[in-house]
Formats: sequence, structure tokens, C-alpha cells
Amino acid sequence: MFPATAESATISSGTNEPGAVSQAGPVTRALAQHRSGYSLPADLYLRPDVFELEFRVLLARHWIALGHHSLIPGSGDYFLTEVAGESLIVVRDARGQVQVLANVCSHRGSRLVDAPCGAARAFVCPYHAWTFGLDGTLLQASSGPSDLGAHPVQRFPVRLVSGIIMTCLGPDPLDLDPAASAAASFLDPHACAETVVAARMSYPVAANWKLVLENFLECYHCPTGHPEYCRTNPNAYHFEYGVRGQRFAAQVAQWWREMREIGHVFGTVDQDCLDPREGLEYYTCTRTPLTAGYESATRDGKPVAPLLGTLTRFDGGETFVGIGPYSYVFGYGDYLVLFRLIPATPASSEMELTWLVAADCDIAGDEAALAELTWLWHVTTEQDVVLTDRNSQGVSSRFYRPGPYVDGEAALTRWSDWYAATLRAGLSGGGEGR
Ligand code: FES
Ligand SMILES: [Fe+2]
Repeated sequence: MFPATAESATISSGTNEPGAVSQAGPVTRALAQHRSGYSLPADLYLRPDVFELEFRVLLARHWIALGHHSLIPGSGDYFLTEVAGESLIVVRDARGQVQVLANVCSHRGSRLVDAPCGAARAFVCPYHAWTFGLDGTLLQASSGPSDLGAHPVQRFPVRLVSGIIMTCLGPDPLDLDPAASAAASFLDPHACAETVVAARMSYPVAANWKLVLENFLECYHCPTGHPEYCRTNPNAYHFEYGVRGQRFAAQVAQWWREMREIGHVFGTVDQDCLDPREGLEYYTCTRTPLTAGYESATRDGKPVAPLLGTLTRFDGGETFVGIGPYSYVFGYGDYLVLFRLIPATPASSEMELTWLVAADCDIAGDEAALAELTWLWHVTTEQDVVLTDRNSQGVSSRFYRPGPYVDGEAALTRWSDWYAATLRAGLSGGGEGR
């Protein structure tokens, strides 16, 4: 984590006093330079103090997925994950509840746990052996304070959305209820909560997380960057993505009529990030048809795993669910993929993909079957890493200037306007200081 520099301290106080202006200036100026319909000024992608401000304004309020709950089926099962340089312990406690704990001892701050996953009865700090329960409560501290209850490990809010563990890294999270119920109505037909993890892969990206997100939110690059993805999705999708073009809209409307007839979920529900309703997490849930003749998003369009949930047949659809800036799910008749977009440092990020299949799918250990299951999103994500790394190299150049978004990048205009407005409000409101 980046230390609170004099500059970021000044920024968080929102002061405009003479003498502070030169310190507070760069972030304020970069935000003021943002033009709607253009990519962001370089400073917003590159500056460590912007990254720190994002922690306080975005990560301290928005929800972020950490993984699927089937990773920790039993009491004491845990895994570690890192968000913006912060190590988190995700553990199932003695009552069966999922807890998210800071991997920081409440004595003098030692890292509590090193092993990336495992089963624990309690967490014993390797420094002076303070012992914490699975819910973060301090149980024992030799010669330590008598008020054990006053020294728990820091605990974060937890919500399960169709089996996806979500947390927020601040004390005042946005209201997740509308997003969670919308997401459930699209993910429950796939029985997302009852699926198990078939594969999990991490893709490090040498780019600021916003470049990864921007790439994720548009398909303007799909015809040049993703030949495999373009095979599985109708041509109209690539050219009209984000513009709701007539050709694709007609295909979607026709497919939605079919879905209505067979009783499958269809339609779009969303809470746009630019919607002025305060205090709500934003989300998008939608279903669209794959290429005609494709039953699932696989190499040959044939399913590679058993039909999920309450779906009555392979319907040739793609379910998309996005909650807040960092968490996305794609779903098909036979599998789901959880996408976690994880900010790491100002100049690096991680995409973590988790493939989920029916619990009775015996794909584990079958390398050939796993390769088919992961084929589309593995190859597509590897391509996106190259594209985004290259984007980052250019944005880091002295010669970079924000460029115009095209119609197919309309989602980026909405998102970047929301981002700039949200950070501006965070600056003037003093953010949510830690
Ligand atoms: S720092 Fe953990 S017990 Fe001392
Ligand atoms: Fe892409």
C-alpha cells in the first residue's frame, strides 16, 4: 500500500488554502482535464496518489468479489487474496459463515497467515502468538490485555451473491440489495451457488486497473483482437456492442421471445453508474444470444459440461452480470466464469478467472476436458493482457494525449464520466479517510 504522502494527506482534507494548492494541484488538475467522450488524462492512470484516492473513494464503498464459496466448504477452510496490496483472509468460521479479515495482527501488525490456502482451527500470529478465532476475535494473548474482545482482527462486511463472496473494504458500503437480487435472478437459473470450481487462473497485467476495465467494457477491439470470441458471438454483437444497434437489437428481441416461451430468464436490468440515485451499488444483468447454432461458448459450440440449474435446455445464450467496477460473471448452459478485476499497484493489476460447473461434473483432473472448458475465456483473456499491456505502454508515454471514444465505446464515456465525478466528489468531501 502506498503511504499517505503529504500530498495525499492534503488531498484528503480537500483544502484549497494557499501553500497547499501546489501539493493538491496534480490530482485536481488531472480530474479537471477529463473531457467527456475522451480517454482519461495520463495522470489518472499513473499517479500513486490517484490510486490511493481510489482506495478511499471506490474500494472503501463498492463491493468486490473475492471468490466462490465452494472454495471454502468446511469450517476453518480459508484462502488469501490481495486487493490493492492488502492481504485478506477469506475463511469459513465455526458457525459456517464466511468472514473476510485483514491479514494484519491487532497486536503490532504482523502478517498473520502466509500459506495461500488451507484449513485452520484458529489463527496464531507467528510474532508473539496472539491467537484469533475464525471470526477474527482475539482468544488468547499471553501476558496481553485483559480486554481481549477489544482487539479483534479487522473484519469486513461480507455478502454472498449466488455463492460469490463479496466484500467492501470500508465501513460504509453501498447498498448491495438491488444489485444482489437482480444478479440472483440471472445467476440462480444457472444454480451458481451450487456450482463448484473447475479451474481458477490468474492473469497479471502490467497496466493500471482502469485500462483493464476499459478493455473489458468495450467490444470495439473484438474484431481485431479476439478471433475466437468473434466466432462464438454474432457479428452484429461486435459492431453494435454498447450502441444497441438495430441489427443486434432485432436478433436479441427475437431470442428473448424464444426465452420467454421456454421459461428461461431474458431481458436486461441495470442500475447505471451515472444514475443519480445515491448510495446504491451499480449493476448490469443481461442475456444475449451466441452465434446461431452455438449451444455454449465453446470451440465448436457444443456443451462441455452438464446442463446447469433449472435451465431446461442449452439455449444458446450468454448471461452477463456485472456488480460495481470490479466483479463480473459470464454464464452459459454448462459453465459460468467469475471475472475479478483486481487493482494491485498504480501500474499493475490482476484478472482472476474462476470457471464454475455443476457439482456432479467429473471434470477435475481431466486436462483435455478442462482445456475445452477454459478455451474461450483463457485465450481471450491472454489476448486482452497483451492489448492492455500495450495500451499501458502508450499511456505512459510523454506523447500520450486522451483520444475520442467511438460509438461502440459508449460504455466507456459513461464510466469515465462517472469515475471523474466520483473522484471529484471524493476530493471535495475529504474521501473516507482510513
Ligand atoms: S504482532 Fe502479532 S502477536 Fe505480536
Ligand atoms: Fe477483450
